[in-house]
Amino acid sequence: MVENNPKEMSEDRPWLSWICDSQSAEELEKKYDNWADTYDTDVSKDWSFMPNNIAKTLSQLLPQKDLAILDAGAGTGLVGEALAKEGYVNLTAIDLSEKMLAIAQEKQVYKSLYQGNLEDQSLFADSVDFDVIITAGVFAYAHAGVEVLNNLFRFLKKKGIFLLTIREDYRQQMQAALKRLPWKLISEERFPIYDEAKLMYLLAFQKKA
Ligand SMILES: C[S@@+](CC[C@H](N)C(=O)[O-])C[C@H]1O[C@@H](n2cnc3c(N)ncnc32)[C@H](O)[C@@H]1O
Repeated sequence: MVENNPKEMSEDRPWLSWICDSQSAEELEKKYDNWADTYDTDVSKDWSFMPNNIAKTLSQLLPQKDLAILDAGAGTGLVGEALAKEGYVNLTAIDLSEKMLAIAQEKQVYKSLYQGNLEDQSLFADSVDFDVIITAGVFAYAHAGVEVLNNLFRFLKKKGIFLLTIREDYRQQMQAALKRLPWKLISEERFPIYDEAKLMYLLAFQKKA
């Protein structure tokens, strides 16, 4: 867990600092459990473009619709919904928060849903791997960091694609880890988020063969 905290308090988005103030996975899980019922509404203004963008970017990179896709930190399933609209059918969700996942399940777009911590080394059996791994809104303060990145990488097939969103300041913190992995950056998009000065990146890496 990364404990550095940007303390971004905004009257419009009180949840942003509340969620980034978490000190442990247990605390984060409880907060997301409490937030689950209003999450989709609360984030719609700032975030709804991103799941759609992810799905569009993926369909340009890998148009085949039966690829095994892991939505890691799936939350309420906004990314799964967008992927399903693009025609992707083989989706797995995993998240810390049972309540967020319960909402994702209602959307009926995932083949399987699991509750778990992405830091957990035994998240999946060693034999499990995915063509695509997506983390949207997961690499962030008090959420996931290098440990999660390295752990998820193990479950990505050779030549598989890892799509992640990351804010500019957090990307700088994770830059060394992102560069160290045997993969190639194949797509980079950036969007202003929360205010014009803050940039969120959508990055796609392809694992080497
Ligand atoms: C900002 S939400 C994003 C949810 C969804 N991907 C979206 O785009 O709306 C972050 C999600 O990541 C999950 N999460 C954060 N750290 C996690 C971890 N270490 N293991 C599993 N899930 C985690 C949270 O429970 C939360 O649902």
